[in-house]
Amino acid sequence: MSDRAQKKEKRDARIARITEGMTSIGLYLLFVSGIINILALTGAFYMMQIYDRALLSGSIPTLALISVLALGLYAVQGVMDIIRSQILHRVGARFDKKIAPDVHQMSIEMPRYGFSLGESLERGRMVDTLRNFISGPALVALLDLPWMPIFLVFVFFLHPYLGALTVGGAVVLTLLTIATEIMTRRANRDVSRAASYRSSVAEANARNSDVIRAMGFTRAATQLFSRANDQHLDLQASSSDVTRTMGAISKVLRMMLQSAVLGLGAYLTILGDMTAGSIIAASVASARALAPIDQAIGNWKNIVMAKNAYGTIRETIAAMPDEPEHVNLPTPTQSFSADAITVVAPATGKVILADITIKLQAGQALGLIGPSGGGKSSLMRALGGVWPVLRGNVRLDNADLTQWNQDAISGIFGYLPQDYTLFDTTIARNIARLADPDDEKVIAAAKAAGVHDMIVAMPDGYQTQLGTNGHNLSGGQRQRIALACALYGDPFVVLLDEPNSNLDADGERAVSDAIKSVRERGGIVIVIAHRPSALEQVDMVGIIQDGALVKYGPKSEIMKVAPTPVKRTQPAAGEAAAAAQERAVS
Ligand SMILES: Nc1ncnc2c1ncn2[C@@H]1O[C@H](COP(=O)(O)OP(=O)(O)O)[C@@H](O)[C@H]1O
Ligand SMILES: [Mg+2]
Repeated sequence: MSDRAQKKEKRDARIARITEGMTSIGLYLLFVSGIINILALTGAFYMMQIYDRALLSGSIPTLALISVLALGLYAVQGVMDIIRSQILHRVGARFDKKIAPDVHQMSIEMPRYGFSLGESLERGRMVDTLRNFISGPALVALLDLPWMPIFLVFVFFLHPYLGALTVGGAVVLTLLTIATEIMTRRANRDVSRAASYRSSVAEANARNSDVIRAMGFTRAATQLFSRANDQHLDLQASSSDVTRTMGAISKVLRMMLQSAVLGLGAYLTILGDMTAGSIIAASVASARALAPIDQAIGNWKNIVMAKNAYGTIRETIAAMPDEPEHVNLPTPTQSFSADAITVVAPATGKVILADITIKLQAGQALGLIGPSGGGKSSLMRALGGVWPVLRGNVRLDNADLTQWNQDAISGIFGYLPQDYTLFDTTIARNIARLADPDDEKVIAAAKAAGVHDMIVAMPDGYQTQLGTNGHNLSGGQRQRIALACALYGDPFVVLLDEPNSNLDADGERAVSDAIKSVRERGGIVIVIAHRPSALEQVDMVGIIQDGALVKYGPKSEIMKVAPTPVKRTQPAAGEAAAAAQERAVS
């Protein structure tokens, strides 16, 4: 099989997993709906029997008998209805339980492939939409719809003219539904786009609460939100105008049809073609026949939303690259290298770094320096497998990084990104990468990050709950906990992106000590340094400038020949001092 066909097959299998088992449940539900719909003829039959049999014969026992019969049938219908709604509720929950983790995993992956945070979070809400659809009235209407012919046949059986009238009504109402769909399709898509923009504005404003308050631009931030909100409301109004108008028209049409059935029935009865009981029965049955259409129109928005949500989830699942199958390789112990890699930003497709070659042996540490915007953090992402590399390979002991699966990677890499966010759980779990903490390893990592004493000084120690992004800690404390997380479990490769940006002298020493101890245990460190203190313990230095590794080699050589790595005409005072310090380090 070709590679392409194999990929397609895998993708199809992934999509099939979403709806796995749904067909049989769907058929079962359809069957139950059929019984409910057949039983729904009870009322019509009862009317006919009352008018045409009980009243004509004047027999009380007959009346009692048909009443008891009708009562029994109603009871069965009720029970079936309860069963159906319970099944629907459970199916909704089961569906949610099954796909929510996959979809969540997808939203974790999506930002790496260039989707915005809002788009990623929206996928989670789509699961809610689908669950609500499955357990709500919209799906009930759709399940009833195929059974409409039962009532139409019944009405036809009473009189062909009445049947024709009801079918005519059904056709008109169906056309109305289709027209609604066509008229609102575009608008509904715009509405959901506007809704997602609005929530991303709201989220950004809440996240930047400190900045907004300190610089006093609450009003402008509110205006930004209010513009997004207005746009959403306007779009929603125009879409719901159409839906409501169509809904009202269909309701009036249905009432007119109801009366028309009565009128036509009376006319046919006067002519002697029908009995009085049949008029009532026809009216009841035709109303029942049209109800699912009415319901479908009323719930149209939900149906369309669910359809879009399903389509989007399917599309995203199909678009996500496969996690290849892996042979379990041994944990690397020798080397970490990048062979002529080209790194592209997934969001923009722009080439950020070209032709970067780095080779490090166990026990080495590389310091990366260079002007900001040069591509240091991007290189770190590519080395850590966060961003896929366009060309070239990142290798561990000569095997390409992509040969390791996610679970294995967690023991190989430690990564402290430039902008990290702590999780809303205990300090111990934050350090243990959300797993059940192994106390010994947690403490070892905290000590290596020089944060153990600070943690045990807190009232709850390692069990301290951090809150959203560790809001009850200082920036430096957060950074050191993140450093401990990167060191947890003695990973072979430790990637540190400006680990000392928030740290005091003590913290800087902790970073230096951490680099030293990783090297001593035969690990590899790559550290991006803005301040020279982090370079104390490295033996290799690389300078990244404008997307290229312009200098790379032993620290003693590099720091001698490249005193000022930054291409500038007039260095600012602070930067000149930093450059001088950097020189001093070498
Ligand atoms: N997520 C991203 N999407 C697109 N472009 C990015 C992204 N992150 C960084 N870049 C671009 O890559 C370049 C290098 O950025 P970065 O690697 O953060 O530099 P450094 O860490 O050296 O300051 C910049 O031009 C930046 O605009
Ligand atoms: Mg950076």
